Amino acid sequence: MSHHHHSEQADPAWTAVDAYVESLLIPADPALEMAQRDADAAGMPPIAVSPAQGKMLMLLAMALRAERVLEIGTLAGCSTIWLGRGVAARNGRVVTLEHDPAHARVARANIERAGLSGTVEVIQGAALETLPTVGAHVGGPFDLIFIDADKESYAAYLDWSIRLSRPGTMIIADNVVREGAVLDETHTDPRAQGARAFNSALARDPRVEATIVQTVGCKKWDGFAMAVVK
Ligand code: SAH
Ligand code: DHB
Ligand code: MG
Repeated sequence: MSHHHHSEQADPAWTAVDAYVESLLIPADPALEMAQRDADAAGMPPIAVSPAQGKMLMLLAMALRAERVLEIGTLAGCSTIWLGRGVAARNGRVVTLEHDPAHARVARANIERAGLSGTVEVIQGAALETLPTVGAHVGGPFDLIFIDADKESYAAYLDWSIRLSRPGTMIIADNVVREGAVLDETHTDPRAQGARAFNSALARDPRVEATIVQTVGCKKWDGFAMAVVK
């Protein structure tokens, strides 16, 4: 497959394997199912993390014993709920940044229904405007940061994330492969250019050690960047 080919649908086998993984490892989850239903009802794009990906975020928060988590890009709060579950046992906190007021409203309701309103704070506003204030909300550096908002600003979000970190903080960024579009330096999609600029910034930043892992599944062909702050 050339990297200029863009499939409209995930490969059926990739989607079937995601269904298999969910049936094995991810029990029925009313709070998340209702969150996704309300996201769809509100006309949000179907771009939340898959359950398998969301559970990975929860497991990372657990393994890191995270007490302070930052998310950039909330949508309906699906990834936020997973992150909240990953910190709740330690009374940790998740701060999540969302520009769209309608998204923030739906997310707050979903988070409340998931029993996480004491764990999660949704800050509505453009992340580049609210990031200077988030440190004051949690009183210490973040242990885990998930970047998943507008791809055009990812490089700036990386810089902010590192500034809000300590040595050992893990930074995860979603959608940095984009069906291979990041290989194309002349790609016309600004989201592909944003991911490409992020990946370059990640590679040359002396403050982090990083990799990128490709993924396939119900979210098609994409990938996560993973970095640890030195
Ligand atoms: N993390 C979510 C998906 C996020 S989709 C999940 O996996 O469930 C990306 C979100 O980023 C959208 O809700 C969009 O409104 C938001 N966004 C876009 N630009 C933004 C900005 N400048 N600041 C904060 N959020 C932004
Ligand atoms: C898009 C954004 C996402 O965060 C995602 O996980 C998938 C797709 C997008 O804007 O195309
Ligand atoms: Mg994403």
